Amino acid sequence: MLIDPFQRKISYVRLSVTDRCDFRCTYCMSEDMDFLPKKDVLSLEEMSRLCNTFIDLGVRKLRITGGEPLVRKNIMQLFNSLGKQLGQGLEELTLTTNGSQLGRYAQNLYDSGVRRINVSLDSLEKNKFKKITRIGDLDKVLEGLMIAKKVGLKIKINTVALKGINDDEILNLVNWCGENKFSITFIEVMPMGEIGEKRSNQYMPLNEVKSLIQKKYSITEDPLRTGGPARYVHCHETDQKIGFITPHTHNFCELCNRVRITCTGEMYMCLGQEDKADLKTPLRKSENDQLLKNTIYKAILRKPKGHDFVIERRKNEKFIPRHMNVTGG
Ligand code: 5AD
Ligand code: SF4
Repeated sequence: MLIDPFQRKISYVRLSVTDRCDFRCTYCMSEDMDFLPKKDVLSLEEMSRLCNTFIDLGVRKLRITGGEPLVRKNIMQLFNSLGKQLGQGLEELTLTTNGSQLGRYAQNLYDSGVRRINVSLDSLEKNKFKKITRIGDLDKVLEGLMIAKKVGLKIKINTVALKGINDDEILNLVNWCGENKFSITFIEVMPMGEIGEKRSNQYMPLNEVKSLIQKKYSITEDPLRTGGPARYVHCHETDQKIGFITPHTHNFCELCNRVRITCTGEMYMCLGQEDKADLKTPLRKSENDQLLKNTIYKAILRKPKGHDFVIERRKNEKFIPRHMNVTGG
């Protein structure tokens, strides 16, 4: 079992299967992003072996992320192979996606054992959606979402709250999610990677989002804790859960149960810190998993107590030098 120095049990791995994406969201990427050379990226077989090793070490939940995970070639092979571990140690296999390929893959995802997915969606207005994602087609995402719903996947929408951009859509998004039986979680923008613009211009604190929601809906605190960063409320009119992820407060690190792995096999013990451990070398060095397991055990002992995010309103904005598409959020 993996226990860190603060007695937190690591039961959740998020694996980014590619840093590439078919969108270029303005808060996530710069317009001209450099992506990793394909030769540095782990093969799907290596990813599967890595995940199985973590399951052996007590990990119960896996989330596949990106970039956009569904643009990785033959990605369903990985879902099909990991799906076989469900009920054999693994309890949940999930996915975070921008929704662009859901129409094509929803059924296959369900068949592999995926039951819940997170879909990032920041606007329900076609032109604005295009402006935020620079490339994305809202209609295609909505069509994919409806297919995913139809095949039986439970859907959570993730919305990054952006000042002056989608703050006028908060109520509409809550409404629309209620009608579709989706839950929704709002996220504050985090200072990750150079994006060619200051993030403090985009930053919208979620207490403002909450106040907006309270103008129309009655909400009560929900005690639910998932080991993740979200705090939840229950919305009575729509009978749905609404989550808030506020990385600029330090309120979630003490329950952190997760590590993140990049598509090149680097393990980050915290989203908001730079320390990482190379898992690719031990993975490739030996067919036997012992070396890999020892490397993982050692790295978990370096898991920090908490993150270091600050959105500074001053000139020199401090940010974590990697973009979100490296670790998948
Ligand atoms: N701050 C907050 N959220 C971000 N995401 C990507 N970049 C950032 C950022 N800098 C979100 C995406 C997606 C999730 C994986 O992370 O919108 O919902
Ligand atoms: Fe792609 Fe997600 Fe980043 Fe948007 S936020 S560019 S969808 S990885």
